[in-house]
Amino acid sequence: MIDPSRAELDALVFDAYGTLFDVHSVVTQCEELFPGKGQALSQLWRSKQLEYSWLRSLMGRYVDFNHVTADALKHACEVLGLSCTDETLKLLNRSYRTLRPFDDAVFALGALERMRPRPRLAILSNGAPEMLNAVVKHNQMDKLLDPVLSVDTVGIFKPDPRVYQLAVDQLNVMAGRIGFVSSNGWDAAGATAFGFTVFWVN
Ligand code: LAC
Repeated sequence: MIDPSRAELDALVFDAYGTLFDVHSVVTQCEELFPGKGQALSQLWRSKQLEYSWLRSLMGRYVDFNHVTADALKHACEVLGLSCTDETLKLLNRSYRTLRPFDDAVFALGALERMRPRPRLAILSNGAPEMLNAVVKHNQMDKLLDPVLSVDTVGIFKPDPRVYQLAVDQLNVMAGRIGFVSSNGWDAAGATAFGFTVFWVN
């Protein structure tokens, strides 16, 4: 368990998708819609989503994460030969607003909330503001995780350093005193290169 005061941290900033919220909690819904293909669809959807985010950053062609997520889902359905109506695409995309949190994330946030002095807890994510706020609210974490920072403010995805700088600017805390928590290895690497104190949830 992280003890922010011993680690001399003023804030803990969490990645959202894959760290606090399980992107593969959509498998059940994918499986209901496409029996036997749920797992494959969820895996391909997520890996394309990330790939598209990196490509868009490199090409300087930012669109928000809703858009990237929808494009990735379309691609995954095509590759797996799943005929997906606009309605189904919309339904699956909307599931990002109700993703389940990981049990250990809920436990850790609860423990951090009880600490005195309580460290500042925030999110820094690729998600578009409205999709992030929805999933945070859905899981009743809105009082705890404040602020919820989105790359949308800087118009480029992680691991561009401008994204990590956003947390420094918005929290008004030096990079080295921010503990950054991510399960995404590439995000942890980007945050380390930037100068955060990083906790990779592997
Ligand atoms: C995020 C991506 C890494 O939440 O999933 O920023």
